[in-house]
Amino acid sequence: SGPAAYQAEDATISQGVVESNHAGYTGTGFVNYDNVTGSYVEWTVNAATAGPATLELRFANGTTASRPMAIAVNGTSVTRDFTGTGAWTTWQTVTLTADLAQGVNKIRATATTSNGGPNVDRLSV
Ligand code: GCU
Ligand code: CA
Ligand code: CA
Repeated sequence: SGPAAYQAEDATISQGVVESNHAGYTGTGFVNYDNVTGSYVEWTVNAATAGPATLELRFANGTTASRPMAIAVNGTSVTRDFTGTGAWTTWQTVTLTADLAQGVNKIRATATTSNGGPNVDRLSV
């Protein structure tokens, strides 16, 4: 089987709303981050074993300006650009590798600019 999908609309959301007005999402919608610095989505991911895992964030950015986010895994953070995808209905993925702990992991994607994050569909692990 492939990676497990963790829908953004089912995660913990701070300064964002669940919407479904732009087609192409999976699950029941996506999170529209408020356009402010610090808005975030946080997922709880259970890992059977400790070690490196591939994290894939699926997003859309209908603007021409990047919407960078800090991706924190159990407190260790890396920043990634989420560049324009051409339309709010065009979804792309950003992939990173992170060390997961056995058991519960908190994975938080936080907007680092006042534009907020992109629209986020899901995290796959
Ligand atoms: C539009 C779009 C939203 C998006 C927002 C933004 O309002 O419909 O889905 O989140 O732009 O610029 O962040
Ligand atoms: Ca937004
Ligand atoms: Ca979704």
